[in-house]
Amino acid sequence: MKKQTLVGTVIGALAAGLMIGGTTIALAQADVVKERQENRKATAAQMRAIKGVIDSKGDLKAVVASAAKLKELEVAFVKLFPAGSDKDSKALPTVWSDMPGFLAASKNAEAAYDKIAVAAGSGDLAAVGAAFADAGKACGACHEKFRAKAN
Ligand code: HEC
Repeated sequence: MKKQTLVGTVIGALAAGLMIGGTTIALAQADVVKERQENRKATAAQMRAIKGVIDSKGDLKAVVASAAKLKELEVAFVKLFPAGSDKDSKALPTVWSDMPGFLAASKNAEAAYDKIAVAAGSGDLAAVGAAFADAGKACGACHEKFRAKAN
């Protein structure tokens, strides 16, 4: 009798532990989705800042800093896709089924940010404009394959 109660208690405790574990995982995944969406918002803000400098022929030093920030955000972004974090997200299942393709699209964007940094560092506004256009294409190329259309 006593032994059975003990077993029941242990099983009960295990079940409770699993439930708590499940909730923790669900919360962590909601957080990670939010975090990557915030990351992309910050990315878009840096792109707008660069566009502003190009349009106003402003200080290209600010563009060097923005390009570095873009790269930092990109490196962090691809680490925010743990398996199963697809709820309340625009990330398509292809992110997980084609992770190498997703990482390659991200590397492509990184290369474009590097080009922006080099062009801005050399003070060449026309080259900054061209590299900025490439970066925009890199955003679009990834969204095309890996992000659901906004509607
Ligand atoms: C490697 C792929 C990839 C690249 C490169 C990329 N994005 Fe995205 N982006 C995504 C994915 C995936 C989502 C959807 C994230 C989610 O909802 O979980 C997204 C979402 C967004 C969002 C919506 C964020 C929100 O509020 O939910 C914006 C804005 C955005 N991206 C802008 C950009 C810009 C600007 C660039 C280029 C400078 C860029 N992205 C480059 C994959 C990418």
